[in-house]
Amino acid sequence: MNRIPLIQRYSLFINIPAYSKLVTLNEGYTPLIPLPHIAIHLGGSFHLYAKYEGLNPTGSFKDRGMTVAISEAAGREVQTVICASTGNTAASAAAYASRAGQKAVVLIPEGKVAAGKLAGAVAYGAQVIQIAGSFDDALEMVVQISEHHPIALVNSLNPYRLEGQKTAAFEICDELGKAPDWLCLPVGNAGNITSYWMGFKQYNEYKASGLPHFLGVQAAGSAPLVLGHPVEHPETVATAIRIGKPARGEQALQAAEESGGKIIAVSDEKILEMQRALASEGIWVEPASAAGLAGLAEEIKQGAIDPSGKDIVIVCTGHGLKDPDIIVKSMPAPQKITAEIAALEDLILGS
Ligand code: F0G
Repeated sequence: MNRIPLIQRYSLFINIPAYSKLVTLNEGYTPLIPLPHIAIHLGGSFHLYAKYEGLNPTGSFKDRGMTVAISEAAGREVQTVICASTGNTAASAAAYASRAGQKAVVLIPEGKVAAGKLAGAVAYGAQVIQIAGSFDDALEMVVQISEHHPIALVNSLNPYRLEGQKTAAFEICDELGKAPDWLCLPVGNAGNITSYWMGFKQYNEYKASGLPHFLGVQAAGSAPLVLGHPVEHPETVATAIRIGKPARGEQALQAAEESGGKIIAVSDEKILEMQRALASEGIWVEPASAAGLAGLAEEIKQGAIDPSGKDIVIVCTGHGLKDPDIIVKSMPAPQKITAEIAALEDLILGS
């Protein structure tokens, strides 16, 4: 099928300057996959869907924002783009910059970026720089350097990133025929929850599609928006959202409040449990991407959300292949047999 690039598909709703030069990898158009067994397991009679953003070209939702940010930068003949990243933004920036003929420089926190993301950034040809510090330190550095040099910042502080990421909200409304009752998603630097809210509000104004309640979910060890203060040394197994000072924290809190929802924290154990639950329905996501479901499960358990009869969407932001180590480390070694049919029969049928 010939897919119209998101920038054209939703041109009415995306604020991008006329001078921009389209840079696209056919991002978006991700499926909304029903999760009937998990819904039953959570104890409700309701419609639960995963918006599977891991199926974007570089394996995460970042591509929706990057097509717009890089297209705008290309229109200005920008030569170099830069970002700080826990990994996914780095891979996405690297891919789109390469396609545009730009150089990408990515700053990552040393030792805290999952293998699939680092490999992606390298494969797409970015200059990858590890810093002895956190994502928050890296973000401060790239903001400063982009203020003083002709280097375009492509973190979600760049408003064009948000313009692109709104498209996920449009797709959900298009597919369901309206906004869901709840949208549950992980929150790190808080660009995505901000974009979704902008998108749902805009669509509602034009199409009366309604507004969801938001359940933003942080990891307990990296939950500045729940605690109400920055976290100096954030820690979580969900390295994508290992962020202590979210750049768009205020907007995230506002979005959650305006939507009649909230931002909560969940344990790493719950995140990993829900990563396994999603895999049991055929959807392998990286740990951060299971946070939305983990939050929903906790809220239903505590009686804080009554899902009955509702449409609930969890946003699965990145593919499981991004972070293979988390699975590989905990799995038993594969069983080994001789290359004989009798040995195979013995093993799987029993003797
Ligand atoms: N899920 C995944 C897989 C992510 O990579 C991120 C952010 C988020 C959720 C949270 O989104 O920051 O907009 O609140 N990753 C950024 C990065 C920080 O550098 O790749 P957010």
